Amino acid sequence: GVPNTYSEPVHIAVIGGTGIQSLANFTLAATLSISTPWGTPSSPISILEHPSPATGKPIPIAFLSRHGLHHELAPHEIPNRANIAALRSLGVRTIIAFSAVGSLQEEIRPRDFVVPDQIIDRTKGIRPFTFFEGGMVGHVGFGDPFDEGLAKIVRKCGHSLEGEGVRLHDRGTIVCMEGPQFSTRAESNLYRSWGGSVINMSALPEAKLAREAEMAYQMICMATDYDCWHETEDVNVEMVMAHMKANAENARRFVGAVLDELSKEEHGEQVLAKHLDGQMKFAGAIT
Ligand code: ADE
Repeated sequence: GVPNTYSEPVHIAVIGGTGIQSLANFTLAATLSISTPWGTPSSPISILEHPSPATGKPIPIAFLSRHGLHHELAPHEIPNRANIAALRSLGVRTIIAFSAVGSLQEEIRPRDFVVPDQIIDRTKGIRPFTFFEGGMVGHVGFGDPFDEGLAKIVRKCGHSLEGEGVRLHDRGTIVCMEGPQFSTRAESNLYRSWGGSVINMSALPEAKLAREAEMAYQMICMATDYDCWHETEDVNVEMVMAHMKANAENARRFVGAVLDELSKEEHGEQVLAKHLDGQMKFAGAIT
């Protein structure tokens, strides 16, 4: 059996979304069932080891499946606080989060990747969205919801795979809606008029909680449909799954390249999240 403990700190995590349930070229070193004051995460956390391209030394990566091992959690059921707190308790300071998205722009075609730099919140305030409550007051800056240092590395890796069929958009605004129903056509057109690039149901509160926990966070999006504004067929689950499955190899290759780059420089703790240290003066309570 696989060990259920891991003694070294883990600095880097991947949160896999719809279609990214595992990673190739990694060795499973442990499977951790973690409980936190905010409950248990979406899935056990797999610790995957991968030799550093620079030193050959094994670098551990924490992998969490956002929708559960069998895709049993709808977007509004995801225990986001437990997910982020569990990763932080392992030592994670850098998160690459993957998400299937609908495209709100003609030039973002199904199977294209987007490295978003902004978010518009269209969740309904029904998901637990902060660690700061019950007498502990905290306000984090969220003007740039993603980590620009991490985004630069992600873009570089994505572009390095362009010869292998990866199409990448360097920036974009995610509209994060509540779901689980898809948008109406009027909403879809409204989001386009707001300048939305893509739409999903998972960016929030995940990105906010990562910021509160002083973790560098960047989402990688893969378009699976044109939502319902386009003259092509309206989005449905089969369409999302079919594009995800057809392009899963590229998605895994993309995430793998990012992890190679991150482990090369051992970015995890030392570099990427340093500027976040102390930003949240109460984060000690969760970290
Ligand atoms: N995830 C994938 N496609 C989507 C869409 N059109 N709307 C919301 N979330 C999505």
